[in-house]
Amino acid sequence: MNEQKEAVFTAEEFLVSRRSVRQYEKGHVLSDEELNELLELASRAPSSWNLQHWRYFVIRDQANKERLLPIAYGQQQVVDASAVVVVLGDLEANKVAPDVFAEAEPRIRDMMIQQIEGAYANNPALARDEAVRNGSLAAMQLMLAARAKGYDTVPMGGYDQNAFVREFKVPERYIPVVMIPIGKAAQPGRETGRLPLAHQVFHESF
Ligand SMILES: Cc1cc2nc3c(=O)[nH]c(=O)nc-3n(C[C@H](O)[C@H](O)[C@H](O)COP(=O)(O)O)c2cc1C
Repeated sequence: MNEQKEAVFTAEEFLVSRRSVRQYEKGHVLSDEELNELLELASRAPSSWNLQHWRYFVIRDQANKERLLPIAYGQQQVVDASAVVVVLGDLEANKVAPDVFAEAEPRIRDMMIQQIEGAYANNPALARDEAVRNGSLAAMQLMLAARAKGYDTVPMGGYDQNAFVREFKVPERYIPVVMIPIGKAAQPGRETGRLPLAHQVFHESF
């Protein structure tokens, strides 16, 4: 049996060892089963009112990855990775509320729907913030899920969002949040540092 032994990480090692990987084994296939497993795990992310604002636009076809290359300013990882998942955010997540609360007690369901509709009414800034905020949580979880399953990723904002929307005919309801190539690393990601905590944290007051 050719069973590959998987490394066992502590949760801490797992988080610290993630790196953005930009070189991938060309031609490695991410199966439907593996892809669905990753997306199911990503979708366990939390979201406001559980509206699950993320959508996944999945590109595995080589010709479609090539279409991405100029849009991503020539960043080769979009062509070499097994899949590129563009996490989209739903600008009309309020419309999903009846499905999300379908099983809830009618009184609770109606209250939640009313609250959500109130928040979304005439508030495109909120809709956009929510789409990006909640989409980003799923994106991070997708990257960690990939890592847990022996894959690597790189989050990408360096692409022409308008060109992507035009080229792939993304409906107006959705906005691109982040582009994530997923694949088997051909080269490890380079180590990066972080600013000291003192630079990042404010305790109690400014
Ligand atoms: C929103 C966002 C956009 C990014 N865009 C790109 C990109 O277009 N191309 C790229 O190679 N890396 C991109 N990165 C990866 C960052 O360079 C990387 O996360 C950072 O240097 C820290 O390295 P690490 O991910 O290995 O810890 C992006 C990261 C984030 C979170």
